[in-house]
Amino acid sequence: MSRIAVVTGGGTGIGRAVAARLAAAGDQVVITGRRKDVLAEAAAEIGATAVPFDATDTDGVAAALADLPERVDVLVNAAGGLADLAGGPPDENDLEAVRASWLGNFESNVLSAVLVTTALLPRLADHARIVNLGSVTARSGQGAYGAVKATLEPWTSELAFRLGARGITANVVSPGPTEGTDLFRGGDFPAARREFVRTRTANGRLGQADEVAATIEFLASPAASHVTGQVIHVSGGMYLGR
Ligand SMILES: NC(=O)c1ccc[n+]([C@@H]2O[C@H](COP(=O)([O-])OP(=O)(O)OC[C@H]3O[C@@H](n4cnc5c(N)ncnc54)[C@H](OP(=O)(O)O)[C@@H]3O)[C@@H](O)[C@H]2O)c1
Repeated sequence: MSRIAVVTGGGTGIGRAVAARLAAAGDQVVITGRRKDVLAEAAAEIGATAVPFDATDTDGVAAALADLPERVDVLVNAAGGLADLAGGPPDENDLEAVRASWLGNFESNVLSAVLVTTALLPRLADHARIVNLGSVTARSGQGAYGAVKATLEPWTSELAFRLGARGITANVVSPGPTEGTDLFRGGDFPAARREFVRTRTANGRLGQADEVAATIEFLASPAASHVTGQVIHVSGGMYLGR
């Protein structure tokens, strides 16, 4: 019996790379995201099923349940990102802008994972796998984005304890700066910042989406049955666990 995987944010970047790996390994894969066209194109190329919805919208998530699988063996919450990248960090003289930045990053990176996971909890199979996308910035800091990514860590360990008796695992994968994602394709990421983060790695380079996906594929596999409640950094040593 093939496994059934749901990958939020599976239309682009790391989520897409995960979806492609799982589909190639024989899993039935459902990818989700807001842009129908992006999702449909990725689904056709990967051999996945597209279910478009906004993961931060309770009505959207509830409505999507009709199209999401009745049994879920693998759930990867990759939807999210740096909500205020294009405009840069909020003007600290503008409290409304600060508020919008914190709420936007929280909705995009935390609520998206919490709402989808909570909605799918009754459908999780025994021995299911949950992987949430964190970030090295959860430890090193990056304004609202890093801080909200950090909140995924205790929530994920709580899931691990809550579901562990059924053989279900829950882990966070925290990438460092990763190419092959919208963040680095759009040209919004300043070159000086890119060079700065490159020099912060042990191997002198940024990561690739497929390198992050390879770790997620392992955590989603039966072989990772005793790895749960962990935060795994895939960052070229940018964050070493200290
Ligand atoms: N790239 C990096 O350097 C890096 C580093 C650390 C952590 N991460 C994390 O890794 C995860 C994947 O990001 P990525 O870099 O691969 O970025 P990406 O290419 O921008 O992919 C993010 C995906 O999430 C979807 N998404 C965003 N908000 C959504 C929402 N409200 N509802 C449904 N789908 C939503 C987007 O599709 P739509 O816009 O169509 O909805 C997009 O396909 C994110 O959680 C990100 O924070 C990335």
